[in-house]
Amino acid sequence: MSEQKTTVLGNPGFAGETGDFSHLSEADIRGSAYVGRRPPEGREAGAAASYPYQLLQKDPAARLFEGPYRERAEKIKSRYPEPQGALLPLLNLAQEIRGHVDAEAMATVAEELDLSPTYVRGVATFYTMYNKQPVGDFLIQVCTNVACNLCGGDEVMAEFLKAAGTESGEISFDGAFTVIEAECLGACGFPTAVQINERYFENVTTAEVPAILEQLRTERPIRRKPAPVDVKPPEARHGAGKVEVPDDPGAPGETVGPESNPYAGGDRTPPAAARPPASDRPSSEGQG
Ligand code: FES
Repeated sequence: MSEQKTTVLGNPGFAGETGDFSHLSEADIRGSAYVGRRPPEGREAGAAASYPYQLLQKDPAARLFEGPYRERAEKIKSRYPEPQGALLPLLNLAQEIRGHVDAEAMATVAEELDLSPTYVRGVATFYTMYNKQPVGDFLIQVCTNVACNLCGGDEVMAEFLKAAGTESGEISFDGAFTVIEAECLGACGFPTAVQINERYFENVTTAEVPAILEQLRTERPIRRKPAPVDVKPPEARHGAGKVEVPDDPGAPGETVGPESNPYAGGDRTPPAAARPPASDRPSSEGQG
Protein backbone atom coordinates (compact mmCIF):
# COMPACT_ATOMS: atom_id res chain seq x y z
CA MET A 1 0.00 0.00 0.00
CA SER A 2 1.37 3.42 -0.91
CA GLU A 3 1.89 6.04 1.71
CA GLN A 4 -1.02 8.11 2.84
CA LYS A 5 -1.50 11.12 0.57
CA THR A 6 -4.40 13.15 1.84
CA THR A 7 -6.92 13.23 4.61
CA VAL A 8 -10.41 14.61 4.77
CA LEU A 9 -11.39 16.50 7.90
CA GLY A 10 -8.18 15.23 9.41
CA ASN A 11 -9.43 11.68 9.42
CA PRO A 12 -7.31 9.43 7.24
CA GLY A 13 -9.86 6.66 7.40
CA PHE A 14 -12.90 8.70 6.51
CA ALA A 15 -12.68 9.52 2.85
CA GLY A 16 -10.67 6.63 1.55
CA GLU A 17 -8.21 8.93 -0.20
CA THR A 18 -5.37 6.71 0.95
CA GLY A 19 -3.90 3.49 -0.30
CA ASP A 20 -3.22 2.22 -3.77
CA PHE A 21 -6.40 3.54 -5.33
CA SER A 22 -5.90 7.29 -5.39
CA HIS A 23 -7.58 7.45 -8.80
CA LEU A 24 -10.84 6.53 -7.10
CA SER A 25 -12.45 9.54 -5.50
CA GLU A 26 -14.59 9.48 -2.42
CA ALA A 27 -17.56 9.84 -4.75
CA ASP A 28 -16.54 6.63 -6.49
CA ILE A 29 -16.55 4.80 -3.20
CA ARG A 30 -19.61 6.26 -1.55
CA GLY A 31 -21.57 7.38 -4.58
CA SER A 32 -21.53 10.97 -5.78
CA ALA A 33 -25.08 11.60 -4.61
CA TYR A 34 -23.92 11.04 -1.07
CA VAL A 35 -20.84 13.20 -0.95
CA GLY A 36 -20.46 16.84 -0.14
CA ARG A 37 -24.04 17.93 -0.42
CA ARG A 38 -26.84 18.01 2.05
CA PRO A 39 -30.15 18.66 0.32
CA PRO A 40 -31.96 21.35 2.25
CA GLU A 41 -35.29 19.63 1.89
CA GLY A 42 -36.81 16.30 1.20
CA ARG A 43 -37.51 14.59 -2.05
CA GLU A 44 -33.86 14.39 -2.96
CA ALA A 45 -31.03 12.04 -2.35
CA GLY A 46 -30.12 11.56 1.26
CA ALA A 47 -26.75 12.57 2.67
CA ALA A 48 -25.88 9.44 4.58
CA ALA A 49 -22.20 8.72 4.23
CA SER A 50 -22.65 5.01 3.76
CA TYR A 51 -25.57 2.68 3.83
CA PRO A 52 -26.77 -0.13 1.65
CA TYR A 53 -27.53 1.65 -1.55
CA GLN A 54 -30.91 0.88 -2.97
CA LEU A 55 -30.76 1.66 -6.63
CA LEU A 56 -33.33 1.60 -9.36
CA GLN A 57 -30.69 0.28 -11.72
CA LYS A 58 -29.73 -3.08 -10.38
CA ASP A 59 -29.39 -6.59 -11.63
CA PRO A 60 -30.40 -9.35 -9.22
CA ALA A 61 -28.38 -11.84 -11.27
CA ALA A 62 -25.21 -9.76 -11.69
CA ARG A 63 -21.86 -11.22 -10.84
CA LEU A 64 -20.48 -9.46 -7.82
CA PHE A 65 -17.31 -7.40 -7.68
CA GLU A 66 -16.36 -7.32 -11.33
CA GLY A 67 -15.20 -4.45 -13.51
CA PRO A 68 -15.39 -1.14 -11.66
CA TYR A 69 -16.84 -2.92 -8.67
CA ARG A 70 -13.67 -4.98 -8.38
CA GLU A 71 -11.72 -1.77 -7.93
CA ARG A 72 -14.13 -0.51 -5.34
CA ALA A 73 -14.08 -3.79 -3.48
CA GLU A 74 -10.28 -3.80 -3.43
CA LYS A 75 -10.14 -0.27 -2.16
CA ILE A 76 -12.67 -0.99 0.56
CA LYS A 77 -10.66 -4.00 1.65
CA SER A 78 -7.46 -1.97 1.67
CA ARG A 79 -8.87 0.37 4.29
CA TYR A 80 -9.10 -2.17 7.05
CA PRO A 81 -6.39 -4.04 8.90
CA GLU A 82 -8.77 -6.93 9.56
CA PRO A 83 -11.15 -8.44 6.98
CA GLN A 84 -14.12 -8.14 9.31
CA GLY A 85 -13.85 -4.36 9.00
CA ALA A 86 -14.76 -4.52 5.33
CA LEU A 87 -17.74 -6.77 5.84
CA LEU A 88 -20.53 -4.19 6.01
CA PRO A 89 -19.12 -2.03 3.18
CA LEU A 90 -18.85 -5.09 0.93
CA LEU A 91 -22.38 -6.17 1.79
CA ASN A 92 -23.44 -2.62 0.95
CA LEU A 93 -21.69 -2.92 -2.38
CA ALA A 94 -23.37 -6.25 -3.07
CA GLN A 95 -26.76 -4.69 -2.39
CA GLU A 96 -25.89 -1.75 -4.62
CA ILE A 97 -25.17 -4.15 -7.49
CA ARG A 98 -28.00 -6.62 -7.04
CA GLY A 99 -30.55 -4.77 -4.95
CA HIS A 100 -30.54 -7.50 -2.35
CA VAL A 101 -28.17 -9.73 -0.44
CA ASP A 102 -29.19 -13.36 -0.55
CA ALA A 103 -27.37 -16.43 0.75
CA GLU A 104 -25.28 -16.74 -2.40
CA ALA A 105 -24.13 -13.11 -2.14
CA MET A 106 -23.30 -13.61 1.53
CA ALA A 107 -21.20 -16.63 0.58
CA THR A 108 -19.40 -14.59 -2.09
CA VAL A 109 -18.62 -11.85 0.42
CA ALA A 110 -17.42 -14.46 2.88
CA GLU A 111 -15.06 -15.89 0.29
CA GLU A 112 -13.88 -12.41 -0.63
CA LEU A 113 -12.92 -11.68 2.97
CA ASP A 114 -11.83 -15.18 3.92
CA LEU A 115 -14.55 -15.34 6.55
CA SER A 116 -16.88 -18.20 7.27
CA PRO A 117 -20.25 -18.06 5.47
CA THR A 118 -21.94 -18.55 8.82
CA TYR A 119 -20.26 -15.47 10.26
CA VAL A 120 -21.27 -13.33 7.29
CA ARG A 121 -24.81 -14.65 7.35
CA GLY A 122 -25.07 -13.87 11.06
CA VAL A 123 -24.06 -10.27 10.43
CA ALA A 124 -26.12 -9.74 7.29
CA THR A 125 -29.31 -11.14 8.76
CA PHE A 126 -28.97 -8.90 11.82
CA TYR A 127 -29.49 -5.77 9.74
CA THR A 128 -32.93 -5.25 8.27
CA MET A 129 -31.54 -2.75 5.76
CA TYR A 130 -30.17 -5.67 3.77
CA ASN A 131 -32.91 -7.07 1.59
CA LYS A 132 -32.79 -10.83 1.71
CA GLN A 133 -34.68 -11.26 -1.56
CA PRO A 134 -35.18 -9.19 -4.74
CA VAL A 135 -37.23 -6.01 -4.54
CA GLY A 136 -38.88 -3.81 -7.13
CA ASP A 137 -37.19 -0.94 -8.93
CA PHE A 138 -38.43 1.33 -6.17
CA LEU A 139 -38.23 0.10 -2.58
CA ILE A 140 -40.80 2.15 -0.70
CA GLN A 141 -40.17 2.15 3.03
CA VAL A 142 -42.98 3.72 5.02
CA CYS A 143 -42.22 4.64 8.61
CA THR A 144 -44.88 3.40 10.98
CA ASN A 145 -43.01 4.13 14.20
CA VAL A 146 -44.43 6.32 16.95
CA ALA A 147 -44.27 9.83 15.51
CA CYS A 148 -45.27 8.78 12.03
CA ASN A 149 -47.90 6.40 13.35
CA LEU A 150 -49.55 9.19 15.32
CA CYS A 151 -49.69 11.20 12.12
CA GLY A 152 -51.21 8.51 9.94
CA GLY A 153 -48.29 6.24 9.06
CA ASP A 154 -50.47 3.15 8.98
CA GLU A 155 -52.91 4.85 6.62
CA VAL A 156 -50.07 6.04 4.38
CA MET A 157 -48.70 2.48 4.30
CA ALA A 158 -52.10 1.10 3.34
CA GLU A 159 -52.47 3.73 0.63
CA PHE A 160 -49.10 2.86 -0.89
CA LEU A 161 -50.03 -0.82 -0.96
CA LYS A 162 -53.36 -0.03 -2.56
CA ALA A 163 -51.93 2.37 -5.14
CA ALA A 164 -49.04 0.04 -6.02
CA GLY A 165 -51.40 -2.91 -6.24
CA THR A 166 -49.21 -5.15 -4.15
CA GLU A 167 -48.86 -6.63 -0.71
CA SER A 168 -46.25 -5.73 1.84
CA GLY A 169 -42.82 -7.06 0.88
CA GLU A 170 -43.87 -8.32 -2.54
CA ILE A 171 -42.92 -6.98 -5.93
CA SER A 172 -45.70 -5.32 -7.89
CA PHE A 173 -46.79 -7.03 -11.09
CA ASP A 174 -44.81 -4.62 -13.26
CA GLY A 175 -41.63 -4.92 -11.21
CA ALA A 176 -41.78 -1.27 -10.21
CA PHE A 177 -42.55 -1.30 -6.49
CA THR A 178 -41.94 -3.11 -3.24
CA VAL A 179 -43.59 -1.52 -0.21
CA ILE A 180 -42.48 -2.33 3.32
CA GLU A 181 -42.76 -0.81 6.76
CA ALA A 182 -39.70 0.79 8.35
CA GLU A 183 -39.04 1.90 11.90
CA CYS A 184 -37.75 4.53 12.20
CA LEU A 185 -36.35 6.60 9.34
CA GLY A 186 -34.87 9.26 11.59
CA ALA A 187 -37.11 11.97 10.21
CA CYS A 188 -39.48 11.95 13.17
CA GLY A 189 -40.09 15.70 12.91
CA PHE A 190 -41.55 15.28 9.44
CA PRO A 191 -44.15 12.52 9.70
CA THR A 192 -45.06 10.51 7.81
CA ALA A 193 -41.56 9.83 6.53
CA VAL A 194 -41.11 7.63 3.49
CA GLN A 195 -37.82 6.51 1.99
CA ILE A 196 -37.93 5.49 -1.66
CA ASN A 197 -34.61 4.08 -2.79
CA GLU A 198 -32.12 6.81 -1.92
CA ARG A 199 -34.67 9.59 -1.48
CA TYR A 200 -36.66 10.80 1.45
CA PHE A 201 -40.22 11.99 1.11
CA GLU A 202 -41.38 13.83 4.21
CA ASN A 203 -44.74 14.93 5.59
CA VAL A 204 -46.43 12.43 3.30
CA THR A 205 -50.20 12.19 3.51
CA THR A 206 -52.50 9.59 2.01
CA ALA A 207 -53.71 12.16 -0.51
CA GLU A 208 -50.18 12.56 -1.88
CA VAL A 209 -49.49 8.85 -2.41
CA PRO A 210 -50.99 8.49 -5.91
CA ALA A 211 -49.04 11.51 -7.14
CA ILE A 212 -45.79 10.15 -5.70
CA LEU A 213 -46.29 6.81 -7.44
CA GLU A 214 -47.15 8.59 -10.67
CA GLN A 215 -43.94 10.58 -10.38
CA LEU A 216 -41.98 7.38 -9.88
CA ARG A 217 -43.66 5.73 -12.86
CA THR A 218 -42.69 8.74 -14.97
CA GLU A 219 -39.09 8.61 -13.80
CA ARG A 220 -38.74 4.88 -14.16
CA PRO A 221 -38.15 4.45 -17.91
CA ILE A 222 -35.72 7.35 -17.93
CA ARG A 223 -33.68 6.25 -14.95
CA ARG A 224 -33.64 2.62 -16.04
CA LYS A 225 -31.50 3.44 -19.03
CA PRO A 226 -28.35 1.35 -18.71
CA ALA A 227 -25.35 3.42 -17.81
CA PRO A 228 -22.35 3.00 -20.10
CA VAL A 229 -19.45 1.15 -18.57
CA ASP A 230 -16.59 3.55 -18.06
CA VAL A 231 -13.66 2.05 -19.93
CA LYS A 232 -11.38 5.08 -19.85
CA PRO A 233 -8.14 4.81 -17.91
CA PRO A 234 -8.66 5.66 -14.25
CA GLU A 235 -6.66 8.89 -14.37
CA ALA A 236 -8.89 10.14 -17.19
CA ARG A 237 -12.04 9.39 -15.25
CA HIS A 238 -11.29 11.25 -12.08
CA GLY A 239 -8.90 13.78 -10.79
CA ALA A 240 -7.00 12.44 -7.84
CA GLY A 241 -9.05 13.07 -4.74
CA LYS A 242 -11.47 15.25 -6.62
CA VAL A 243 -15.11 14.93 -5.67
CA GLU A 244 -17.49 15.93 -8.42
CA VAL A 245 -20.99 16.55 -7.20
CA PRO A 246 -23.77 17.13 -9.70
CA ASP A 247 -25.95 20.18 -9.26
CA ASP A 248 -29.02 18.15 -8.58
CA PRO A 249 -28.22 14.54 -7.81
CA GLY A 250 -31.81 13.73 -7.04
CA ALA A 251 -33.44 15.26 -10.06
CA PRO A 252 -35.80 12.93 -11.88
CA GLY A 253 -34.31 11.58 -15.05
CA GLU A 254 -30.70 12.03 -14.05
CA THR A 255 -28.43 9.06 -13.70
CA VAL A 256 -25.66 9.98 -11.34
CA GLY A 257 -23.43 8.48 -8.72
CA PRO A 258 -24.53 5.09 -7.48
CA GLU A 259 -27.31 4.99 -10.06
CA SER A 260 -24.60 4.42 -12.65
CA ASN A 261 -24.69 0.70 -12.31
CA PRO A 262 -22.88 -0.81 -15.28
CA TYR A 263 -24.57 -4.12 -14.70
CA ALA A 264 -28.03 -2.66 -14.88
CA GLY A 265 -30.44 -2.40 -17.74
CA GLY A 266 -32.89 -4.54 -19.61
CA ASP A 267 -36.27 -5.72 -18.54
CA ARG A 268 -36.67 -5.44 -14.79
CA THR A 269 -39.94 -7.23 -14.63
CA PRO A 270 -39.15 -10.01 -12.18
CA PRO A 271 -39.64 -13.59 -13.19
CA ALA A 272 -42.16 -15.45 -11.12
CA ALA A 273 -39.32 -17.30 -9.43
CA ALA A 274 -37.91 -14.00 -8.15
CA ARG A 275 -41.01 -13.23 -6.18
CA PRO A 276 -40.58 -14.15 -2.55
CA PRO A 277 -43.09 -16.50 -1.03
CA ALA A 278 -45.50 -14.76 1.29
CA SER A 279 -43.94 -16.48 4.27
CA ASP A 280 -40.57 -14.82 3.56
CA ARG A 281 -41.85 -11.32 3.07
CA PRO A 282 -40.00 -8.64 5.03
CA SER A 283 -43.25 -6.83 5.80
CA SER A 284 -42.37 -5.99 9.38
CA GLU A 285 -38.72 -5.29 8.81
CA GLY A 286 -37.63 -1.96 10.14
CA GLN A 287 -34.50 0.08 10.08
CA GLY A 288 -33.32 -1.13 13.41
S1 FES B 1 -41.05 7.85 13.77
FE1 FES B 1 -41.10 8.05 11.62
S2 FES B 1 -39.15 8.80 11.11
FE2 FES B 1 -39.02 8.44 13.25
